[in-house]
Amino acid sequence: MPVEKKAPTAEIASTGHSVLPPSEEKPRYVNTMFARIAPTYDLMNRLMTLGQDQRWRRELLALSNLPPRGTLLDVGTGTGDIGYAAMARYPGVQAYGVDFTYEMMAAGVDKTPGLRLPFAQADTYHLPFADDTMDAVVSGFLVRNVVDRAAAFREMMRVTKPGGRVVCLETTPPADTLIGQGSRLYFDTIVPFLGGLISGDREAYTYLPKSTQKFVEPDELQRLMEQAGLRNVIYRLRMMGTVAIHVGTK
Ligand SMILES: C[S@@+](CC[C@H](N)C(=O)[O-])C[C@H]1O[C@@H](n2cnc3c(N)ncnc32)[C@H](O)[C@@H]1O
Repeated sequence: MPVEKKAPTAEIASTGHSVLPPSEEKPRYVNTMFARIAPTYDLMNRLMTLGQDQRWRRELLALSNLPPRGTLLDVGTGTGDIGYAAMARYPGVQAYGVDFTYEMMAAGVDKTPGLRLPFAQADTYHLPFADDTMDAVVSGFLVRNVVDRAAAFREMMRVTKPGGRVVCLETTPPADTLIGQGSRLYFDTIVPFLGGLISGDREAYTYLPKSTQKFVEPDELQRLMEQAGLRNVIYRLRMMGTVAIHVGTK
């Protein structure tokens, strides 16, 4: 099913500032950046995580605790990897993907033979679903890109059924350890180089480590989710502490 394009969301243009935009410019910056890298987004994910990213998405799904024929909303779905994985792994589950970048979803339409993932263009602060409708609302590598994270979690909770789960997969700031320094070196040098080579957009893959370094620590993200109203929030660290999966219950 083709994605309807609502607005001229993405123009291929340099934004004129270096990598981390001020808050008021961030949504537009993020939107145009993902529009530019959409065609090679999946390939770059596989390469820079050495194929681990799909494993984390499956773990996120396991933590979603989906009932048979349950519903899952993937916010900031990009090319739909989480939604497709949900429907492939849990036949009968209906997944939906929303994102504010048309080009990312367009790159994901029909990419998994035999599965149809409905996409909708929407901002994370205004999800186009009624209250209490989803068994789980999840996000993969979204929250770091969002300015008002508390508002984003409140909106995810709104559409989650009571007792349902909100699950968040994100990168974490590198720790001040040898492993943290190694990861910093990898993400500061190799990832931008590889990203430049594969996507032709070194800036986008410089934004990734910079925004990760500025992102909140896993404990703080846990508190943020609790403050949004989620209960029993816990998290797991993966890839030597460079990735975290947080889960809470409405
Ligand atoms: C790093 S990609 C992650 C895509 C996918 N979830 C995955 O696991 O690969 C982040 C996505 O979040 C989207 N995004 C960022 N801010 C958003 C917002 N405020 N509302 C909706 N989507 C947003 C971007 O357009 C992009 O497609």
